[in-house]
Amino acid sequence: LTAESYPSILRNPNYKQLAADDVSFFKNVVGETGVLEASGSEDLALFNEDWMRKYKGQSKLVLRPKTTQQVAKILRYCNEKKLAVVPQGGNTGLVGGSVPVFDEIVLSLTQLNKVRSFDEVSGILKCDAGVILENADNFLADHGYIFPLDLGAKGSCHVGGVVATNAGGLRLLRYGSLHGTVLGLEVVLPNGEVLNTMNALRKDNTGYDLKQLFIGSEGTIGVITGVSILTPPRPKAFNVSFLGVESYEAVQEVFVQAKQELSEILSAFEFMDSKSQELTKLHLKDVAEPLTEKYPFYILIETSGSNKEHDDAKLEAFLEKTMESGLVLDGVVAQDETELRNLWQWREMIPESSQAGGGVYKYDVSLPLKDLYSLVEAANDKLSEKGLMDPEDATKPVISAVGYGHVGDGNLHLNVAVREYSKDVEKALEPFVYEFVSSKNGSISAEHGLGFQKKNYIGYSKSDQEIKMMKNLKDNYDPHHILNPYKFL
Ligand code: FAD
Ligand code: MLT
Ligand code: ZN
Repeated sequence: LTAESYPSILRNPNYKQLAADDVSFFKNVVGETGVLEASGSEDLALFNEDWMRKYKGQSKLVLRPKTTQQVAKILRYCNEKKLAVVPQGGNTGLVGGSVPVFDEIVLSLTQLNKVRSFDEVSGILKCDAGVILENADNFLADHGYIFPLDLGAKGSCHVGGVVATNAGGLRLLRYGSLHGTVLGLEVVLPNGEVLNTMNALRKDNTGYDLKQLFIGSEGTIGVITGVSILTPPRPKAFNVSFLGVESYEAVQEVFVQAKQELSEILSAFEFMDSKSQELTKLHLKDVAEPLTEKYPFYILIETSGSNKEHDDAKLEAFLEKTMESGLVLDGVVAQDETELRNLWQWREMIPESSQAGGGVYKYDVSLPLKDLYSLVEAANDKLSEKGLMDPEDATKPVISAVGYGHVGDGNLHLNVAVREYSKDVEKALEPFVYEFVSSKNGSISAEHGLGFQKKNYIGYSKSDQEIKMMKNLKDNYDPHHILNPYKFL
């Protein structure tokens, strides 16, 4: 989907077209190596195209500043000249928010990648926004701490990127949202001013908590350059168990029992339907399947704590109870680090496997737990009714519509895997999915944000008054709308 595929969207003529003197200015700020220009065969595809290969911009310039001051100089200049800018972290976002739509300049935070400080007593980590999440976690591991967020894109996404999207991930159940763990931010505002709350304390009730505005703001009101975050001690013992159950009702019952029996050591509770595992199997050819039999639903449970024997005993008792009652039909527990990683792969590789057949339409929603899976059923019915999906017919555009997600957080992922992106599929699913979610008082974005994909649908989750207040904030911080234009506001 290029901008041309959306005839209703036109480049805003108020934005300046990039000229040679602009590029010279930027070279003075960040040096020759900090500037990447499209030329000949170099089309900057890595920066213009998103992870799903669904959205493609036409930027001719990528800037890679190394310091906050350089970011400030760039934004001040862009604000004065009315040059549009897209902040970009690891470019793993899943709603088309991280790539340009037209010729916006890409401001990549990749080179702003240093750990600034770590306090061994409080567990407070301060780092640049461009530190890769996995690198931050490895750094913390050396000090006996853990990053309070984990997700499948950890090898590429940035600390600043996860804050900008308010990513949730696999352990939100244990460590809570970034709105709680982020203590302070350093943010460059569109006019080049630097808002610095990096020295914020755990408790500080002196006026508005301004950093919260930027958590989940998707690069629309400021560029995050630094993050201060409270990190918990790294658990000494991890267990992962993979279970098979008969129905979505059974998934919910196992969840209730897991909370009761595993209580403080429960750190993840993920569910997957059988179709999501069939897709993953095509992709994970060399990794042993967790269970030999097939089941309609699977559950991945992680426990983590400070005493392996204690955790093992608790998990064993829980499994005995749920299997004896017939609630859990089958299950395995990882016996070593390799098995543990393999079990996690069957969950973490679903996004990649859904995308591998050509493309994927992704819906990331919050719903009351009892209704969580009904969206997947409704979407399957809709796609079959419209003649867009038939498991026996490989000429149909849809390969499969699968459901999985973070049960512990009431967060479902509906992935519609397609052979190629098709307007017919999109029209069948949108606004159908958003109407369905709204009718159950859910949220059309649980953890991925709105970006470009859901720009026209915010009204399904937010009132006119809320949208008006958001627009006021946008106008206040970014009066020329230079930051991440054409996206959700
Ligand atoms: P990008 O994709 O580069 O940017 C995302 C948005 O943030 C864009 O709007 C961009 O403009 C803005 N932005 C980025 N950096 C900054 C900055 N420094 N300042 C201001 N704005 C900025 N998400 C979840 O919530 N849970 C998951 O479990 C999860 N798993 C994933 C698994 C895979 C395989 C993939 C590909 C993605 C997954 N995601 C998940 C999506 C998630 O949103 C991103 O992985 C991550 O949060 C984005 O970080 P990033 O650095 O790649 O940001
Ligand atoms: C996940 O939970 O795997 C992520 O949010 C990514 C995705 O759903 O694609
Ligand atoms: Zn997720």
